[in-house]
Amino acid sequence: MEDLKRIEDAVLVKLQNATTEHDITQIRSEYLGKKGAIGKAMQGLRELAANERPQAGQRINEVKQAIEAALESAQKRINAVAVKQKQKAGSYDVTLPGRRVIAGAPHPLRLVEAEVIRILTELGFSVAEGPLVEHDWYTFEALNIPANHPARDMQDTFFITEQVVLRPHTSNVQTRVMLGRKPPLRIVAPGMTFRNDDIDPTHSPVFHQIEGFWVDEKVTFADLKGVLHRLAERLFGVGAKVRFRPSFFPFTEPSAEVDVSCSACGGVGGTCRVCKGTGWLEILGSGMIDPAVFEAVGYNPEKVQGFAFGMGIERIAMLRYGIDDIRVLFENDLRFLRQFG
Ligand code: PHE
Repeated sequence: MEDLKRIEDAVLVKLQNATTEHDITQIRSEYLGKKGAIGKAMQGLRELAANERPQAGQRINEVKQAIEAALESAQKRINAVAVKQKQKAGSYDVTLPGRRVIAGAPHPLRLVEAEVIRILTELGFSVAEGPLVEHDWYTFEALNIPANHPARDMQDTFFITEQVVLRPHTSNVQTRVMLGRKPPLRIVAPGMTFRNDDIDPTHSPVFHQIEGFWVDEKVTFADLKGVLHRLAERLFGVGAKVRFRPSFFPFTEPSAEVDVSCSACGGVGGTCRVCKGTGWLEILGSGMIDPAVFEAVGYNPEKVQGFAFGMGIERIAMLRYGIDDIRVLFENDLRFLRQFG
């Protein structure tokens, strides 16, 4: 009986000091839980003489009910305090400085990619994608680059196995789209590409390209020039000029590297550091799709013709935003990225 009195008093004191929901739960399990004090007292009944049990049992029940009532009123008290606090928080101090909401920003590479896609879709191109881990055939063989041909050196390719590579260009999408579909085709294919280059201010082993190609019965070099001129003007501003320099790619003939007039010096050159005084910036490779490529995908090269081009997105982004080190595009420094919001 004395124990029970002590238990009851202890609970009441503890509940007076309880301030949180958690305190209440704690106290409830300490006294009313399976292994709690009241439970133990119940078990203790067995040790009493039979004639003492009913009275003791009744007393235990009384204490139990008292504890339950006390728990309930403590819970009510705590709830009331919580409501008051909430009401208080609802009345705010308008003189406090606001909290800045930090909005995310698109990555500059995504901005450039989206813009090139928009310009080309306006010209009737549609988007296609292909695998990053690719079979040799789609990457090289079908693009007129046979095994052991020296032209393979142009792309420092990562080989997974002898036949499987990390694609060094997005041109594998040409192969895949042409194999699966019939002309006319007007495709823009963005994506990640890989080359075994050491990291330096202008090289990254992971980079991005956008491939464009147009295949139909009568697509000419003039169409290529028209599309690329339009692209350059939209990317670098009205008045941007393009120039075509003869070049070589195994999958195009004739091939051309394309320069755009330097946006930093307006094509003047001189002491311009961006174009190193030439007045021109190289932006992409292009050409008329080689008949051998059409043959590889089962098209009749007597019936169809087309052009293709491939550009590095990093390079365009660096030129557009005046970035002089490719690495900032991959370091995810928020001070850099937030500027594109
Ligand atoms: N695939 C070439 C490269 O990555 C670029 C290119 C694409 C050139 C299409 C011509 C035609 O270097």
